[in-house]
Amino acid sequence: MRTMVDQTADIGEILLTEDQIQTRVAELGAQISNDMAGRQLTLVSVLKGSLPFMADLMRAISLPLRIDLMEVSSYGGATTESSGLVRILKDLSSSIEGEDILIVEDIIDTGLTLNYLVRYLRGKKPASLRICTLLDKPARRLVEIDVDYTGFTIPDQFVVGYGLDYGELYRNLRFVGVLRPEVYTQE
Ligand code: IMP
Repeated sequence: MRTMVDQTADIGEILLTEDQIQTRVAELGAQISNDMAGRQLTLVSVLKGSLPFMADLMRAISLPLRIDLMEVSSYGGATTESSGLVRILKDLSSSIEGEDILIVEDIIDTGLTLNYLVRYLRGKKPASLRICTLLDKPARRLVEIDVDYTGFTIPDQFVVGYGLDYGELYRNLRFVGVLRPEVYTQE
């Protein structure tokens, strides 16, 4: 079993501090509020990794908004590679037809998950659909995706914290850090 001390010891480098994340989330919220002024938004977040980002971003947006949550599986178990297979584990709880949708993602890596999600949500006939991701790892992109709002562009390293996991752990770290490769190569 991992203790909180172990979790921190497994981090090689802190890529984004709590302060950096909070400052950027506030900027994104202000930008989205400005761009979508006068409209009502529906934020669709993708569990579980986007949970802290969603919670902070929604409070940084000064527009009337609804939220909905989806859960999809992309990476199986504790691996660090995308399988390309996307399964919907939890669907939207209400219709998004005619609504202005903002997808709230934690990270875009190959883009396969988001590509699937965008196509799925477009099929539900929203008035508009925008994408906001906290992190973008463009080095490994396999499909082209137009991202409207990006928190940080990061190098091709496996990161955890602020919602992001490895084997379901590390999500509760307040920062984003690079997981020591020994942690996943040992298993
Ligand atoms: P994609 O389909 O390859 O773009 O992967 C998207 C999903 O993979 C994200 O929503 C995360 O759940 C997971 N993922 C991708 N890169 C990382 C990472 O560096 N750390 C933790 N999870 C990641």
